[in-house]
Formats: sequence, C-alpha cells, structure tokens
Amino acid sequence: MARPTQAVINLQHLKDNYQLAKGYSQKAYAVIKADAYGHGLLPIAQALSDADGLAVACMDEALQLRQHGINNPILVLEGGYDEEEWLAAIEHDIEMVLHHQSQLAILLTKSHFKQIKLWLKIDTGMNRLGFRLNECHDIFQQCQHADLNIKVVMSHFACADDLCHEKTLDQFQRLDEILQLQKEFWPDLILSSNNSAAIIGWPEISDHISRPGIMLYGSSPLIKKDKHDHLLKPVMTLKSQIIASHTVKAGETIGYGDSWVADKTTRVGIVAIGYGDGYPRSAPSGTPVWCQGSYLQTLGRVSMDMLCIDISEQTEINIGSEVELWGQYVNANEVASLCNTISYELFCQLTPRVKRVYKK
Ligand SMILES: Cc1ncc(COP(=O)(O)O)c(C=O)c1O
Repeated sequence: MARPTQAVINLQHLKDNYQLAKGYSQKAYAVIKADAYGHGLLPIAQALSDADGLAVACMDEALQLRQHGINNPILVLEGGYDEEEWLAAIEHDIEMVLHHQSQLAILLTKSHFKQIKLWLKIDTGMNRLGFRLNECHDIFQQCQHADLNIKVVMSHFACADDLCHEKTLDQFQRLDEILQLQKEFWPDLILSSNNSAAIIGWPEISDHISRPGIMLYGSSPLIKKDKHDHLLKPVMTLKSQIIASHTVKAGETIGYGDSWVADKTTRVGIVAIGYGDGYPRSAPSGTPVWCQGSYLQTLGRVSMDMLCIDISEQTEINIGSEVELWGQYVNANEVASLCNTISYELFCQLTPRVKRVYKK
C-alpha cells in the first residue's frame, strides 16, 4: 500500500468558487501562481479552461502553461526579468505587467515590443511593485510616444483583508484618479485592482478585471469571519491515516522534547503526516483534526513524517482510520492561525511527497 497521505483537490469546488468571483466583476483572471497555491498548476489551469484569464508570477510559470496547451490569456504579474523574457512574451502571446523603469528601458529598445499587451502597475500604497504616483504621467507619455500597448492600469491592495482599514478605499481612489486622468489619451484603458479580499469584502469597489487567488481555493481572505465566507467551498482536503496506536499512562510524554505530558491514561493514534509533507511543525498541541465524525486534537510536537492525536474517547478509531488535517471539516484558516500564519502558506508549503488526487 502507498503512503496514505493525500491532498484531494475538488475541481468542481474550484470552478464554483471561480464563478462566485466572476459574479463581482466583468472579467476575472484566476491567480494560479506558485503551483496554483500548492494545488497543482496544470490540473488547476485545465479545470479553469473557461476562465477569462490566468495570472502567474513569472515567465517560467507562463511557459509551462503554454507548453501544455493552455490557451487562455495569461498574465505575468512580475513582468519580464530581462529582454529574453519580453521576447518570450511576444512569441507565446503573454500579457505582461510593467512595473518599473528598468523594464520600460528594455521595451523602448525595439519596436516589436509594442505587440505585447501591457498592464501598467501603479503603486498606490503597497510600496512593493509599481510606478510611484508622481511618475505616472511621465511613464504614460513615454509609453504613448513609443506606441506601447497599455491595456490595463492596475494596483494591489495592502490591507483589503481588514474590513475596518481605510487604506483600501484610498488606494482605489488613487488608481481611479490615474484612469480618469489618462482616459483622454488612452480611451480603452481599464482597471484591475481586486484580489479575493476586495472581491468579497469591498463590494463597493468595482474594477473591470479582478484577480482572485485564495478564494478560488475556498479559503476566506478576510481577517475576521464574514457573512460571505460560507459561500466558498474548500478545494483541498489534506488527509492521512492512523498507522499505529498505543496507550500512555499519566506522567508519560509524547514525541520530541517531551513537550506534552499525559495527565491521565491516554490512547494515542500516530498519523502518517509531518513537516516533511508540509504540515506545519509550528502546529501546537490541541490543533484540531477530524476523524470518523469527531473533532480530535494533536498531541506533542509534529515530527518529520508523523504526528500524534488523542483518540481516548473513540474506541472505533484505530489503525487505518482516515484523518483530515484540513479541508471539508477542519478550516485551514483555523490551523493557520494556531501556527501564526495564513492558509496561503499552508497550501504553498505542501511538499511533493503529498500525492495530489484530483476529483472532478
Ligand atoms: C498582484 C496580485 N494580484 C492578485 C493576487 C491574488 O491575491 P489573493 O490570493 O489574496 O486573492 C496576488 C496574490 O498575491 C497578487 O500578487
């Protein structure tokens, strides 16, 4: 029998979540960078064949999609790192983010770069990628002079996951002002601003092309629970099985560092998953798992290939019983918050040892 540790990926839930995102904008480019947030780049792209577009971080990811016959519009969020990548964008018909003067300098060297569909990225407050507000007018002018093909003006929100933060509306207003100013020279220019948190949490912000990521995978992008969260359907169910069980007496410890000490006789199940699979080592004792209809708790430190759970009350649970680490019953955000991280990181750090099983 093969190692029972699997991430079951529900592709129908993915499609349903995409339709939900699309309901809020004219178009939605599905963000599938970083191996589709750990869900598998190609199977996710293939399942989203009806998507208006796909967004990835870099040209390598875009080329992988094209080489496997993905024909949707593809956007590279970091644009090209060098001239070769900008040439590849022409060859493979890939849309590119233009966010820095050094990239513009390359684009101004050859007239055929004007074929590339460009998304001009403006820094409205994230202070990461994008042209500064005071540079924008000059950049637009240079692009117009060189007859470059700017299709979209975009920005990225820093705090949209916090529904009480005023910055999000302020960032949008700055972006919209740029659009209004440039409309005279670029009449077909459209806006892209919304990530998952803005799509779900800020319905008053309406852009032309949204860029949903985490919500496609069924995980809430918001810091606090929201009435729309329940509309998202979890896509990944991470599960494994109990491979051994035993009983410890009061005073005995479990696992590395003796970090957990039994205060009473405790039946322990050993589950075949650990940080070598990407389950976070930072998950404390008491992190929830689901097994045969009950929520149970982890005991002691997570090791590389295993973790322990308390099965004292469930006599029916034994070797071979299936354990869900997150997914349908255990919310990945709850596990993430116990580990001081976010579900994005949990999904992305799953290692190749975890078999991805795709359910249509
Ligand atoms: C530029 C850009 N747009 C959209 C997204 C999608 O964000 P989310 O996964 O929060 O929806 C990301 C993700 O990091 C991004 O970098």
